[in-house]
Amino acid sequence: MTPALTNRDIPPEKLTEKQAKAELKALAKLIAEHDVAYHTNDAPTASDAEYDSLRKRNEAIESQFPDLVRADSPTARVGAAPGGGFKKVAHAVPMLSLGNAFADDDVMDFVDRIRRFLDLGDDEKIEMTVEPKIDGLSFSARYEKGRLTVAATRGDGAVGEDITANIKTIKDLPEFIMGDVPKVMEIRGEVYMTKQDFQAMNERQAAAGGKIFANPRNAAAGSLRQLDPKITAQRPLKAFTYGWGAVEGQTWNTQWEFIQTLKAWGFPVNKRTTVCSSVADMLEEYARLGSDRAGLPYDIDGIVYKVNRLDWQKRLGFVSRAPRWAIAHKFSAEQAETLLENIEIQVGRTGALTPVAHLTPVNVGGVMVSRATLHNEDEIARKDVRIGDTVIIQRAGDVIPQVVEVKLDKRPGESTAFAFPHKCPVCDSLAVREDDEVVRRCTGGLVCAAQAVERLRHFVSREAFDIEGLGEKNIEAFFADDIIRSPADLFKIKKAQLEGREGWGDKSIDNLLAAIDRRRTIGLERFIYALGIPQVGQATARLLAHHYGSLDAWELAMTTAKDEESDAFRELTSIEQIGPSVATDLIGFFAEKHNREVLSALRKAGLTVEDFVRPDTSGSPIAGKTVVFTGTLEKMGRNEAKAQALALGAKVAGSVSKKTDLVIAGPGAGSKLKEAETLGVKVVTEDEYLALIG
Ligand code: IVH
Repeated sequence: MTPALTNRDIPPEKLTEKQAKAELKALAKLIAEHDVAYHTNDAPTASDAEYDSLRKRNEAIESQFPDLVRADSPTARVGAAPGGGFKKVAHAVPMLSLGNAFADDDVMDFVDRIRRFLDLGDDEKIEMTVEPKIDGLSFSARYEKGRLTVAATRGDGAVGEDITANIKTIKDLPEFIMGDVPKVMEIRGEVYMTKQDFQAMNERQAAAGGKIFANPRNAAAGSLRQLDPKITAQRPLKAFTYGWGAVEGQTWNTQWEFIQTLKAWGFPVNKRTTVCSSVADMLEEYARLGSDRAGLPYDIDGIVYKVNRLDWQKRLGFVSRAPRWAIAHKFSAEQAETLLENIEIQVGRTGALTPVAHLTPVNVGGVMVSRATLHNEDEIARKDVRIGDTVIIQRAGDVIPQVVEVKLDKRPGESTAFAFPHKCPVCDSLAVREDDEVVRRCTGGLVCAAQAVERLRHFVSREAFDIEGLGEKNIEAFFADDIIRSPADLFKIKKAQLEGREGWGDKSIDNLLAAIDRRRTIGLERFIYALGIPQVGQATARLLAHHYGSLDAWELAMTTAKDEESDAFRELTSIEQIGPSVATDLIGFFAEKHNREVLSALRKAGLTVEDFVRPDTSGSPIAGKTVVFTGTLEKMGRNEAKAQALALGAKVAGSVSKKTDLVIAGPGAGSKLKEAETLGVKVVTEDEYLALIG
């Protein structure tokens, strides 16, 4: 369960120390969960505005109670630690984020702060570059002697994911830089998808029964973070460049000069970039871009002002996760008015009933929108949304289009409030709501065709069992005709069952059976993902596979972990990035008899789940060991240390338990060190650790 922010309505200065402490703890956890959802799983769980308000609240409490700032404070972190599927890359120069300005006053304050910091006179001009803030995914590409050697996502700012092969598929970005190039040159920018390409791609995906993306940003992120670069190559990705990381052997005087150099080297730079020398000019440019925004071929969510002089940038430096010399001036979400034609209740894989608004298609900032989320029944009641209403919908950067408001003056006379069904629209089973939940769920389990079909669809999807020839339509038809009712049935299909079916010739039947045969043996990671456990995406599946190694070990641990006092429970929750809410879903999955039956039926049907193959770590002194880092590391960053330990075959845990083999303690280590001493776990210094791993 997500922790409750019980004191959220109390202003920071009125909080007691105890309340502040609890609030900071809850905020750290909540923000970290949103970060994982956004950065690791490409599936945001909060709107930009909600997310920003959580961060703001956290910062306000921290500045009121500086002694209570936590070691895992979100202020010191950008984004989320990278997911498990890619190799890790430590950034030579951290990839930071930007502070936000919303009102004109925020921009004036920003320029004033700079003036004061640099001690400049009132009439000294401060030139700023103005760049569109592209709503995409940032990347860093390292060129050595002009050749692209490695490219990475931002990740948590310190360590990203190795996406070299994927970046190389983007035609906008050169693999070689010609001309006078520094020996090492890291280029930074944003990968994005145009609105038109996004729309066309979604239509193709829909036709092929593939994944539909909520907006161009998610489509770009999902396409870039593909483990198979061949898939990335098929996606229409583009890039803009605007910055640098590590550079050896060359400097520039201004940001503008750097942008011109990028252009000369053949990198794509945004042609709306200009230089302004007063706040009035900056605000004028903001207004201009704001009014042109809907007509631009790509999404922008604001503009970025950067101090043009690089010597000034250097003096200004950084505060926590953002530079003092730059700020993002955000635009508000793009909105449009349209008719809400119907409310459809969809039933998901876990039985959750989700209301979806069907709209008269409308252009919102350059993208046609015909569906919007209504979140849940409370939201519908709160906004009193009714079928036949004229509504305002909005497309905010990175969430699914939402219904924000009803135009009451346009409501037809005979309208009635929407009655949220208490029965599943698919199987007619009771749909219930637990006390502490906002969603209503169908109780039909696998009896419910919607849940069963959704689960099967997920089970055979590309990232799971990857069975070609089994699209959504076929799964539905096979389910309806009793050919496949549960995953194990897949491995029992006989040719005779398919012969004579419309659209199924000899060849397509043979192809399907061969595709199924190829998957009679599957890796643990894919298998865990295929089960469709709530919150267990590819990254979490990989973490679990990495940690437990075999299906038997994992299954035993998940069933034993039911007891919160057990070692298995402690071990599960000590895995980094597995919070209590994911643990609850994992345990809940195994607590259900029908889920355990799915596993045993698959075994009976002859499925082999291969143990997780660890990277070759023969000779590594920490292979198979569970290690915990605590305190300040002085020779390397925390994330780099973790990535290195993982690469050496170790498991990295976030807390100390009996299962911990080694604790690496730096200065400032506190409770974890004490715990290790109490439990008699071996403790070494960073230097001793480095000597150990050579
Ligand atoms: S500069 C240290 N310039 O916005 C400065 N960022 O909210 C780092 N972005 O992480 C960023 N367009 O992903 C910069 N012209 C631009 C940008 C830009 C888009 C993204 C970038 C960054 C995020 C911060």
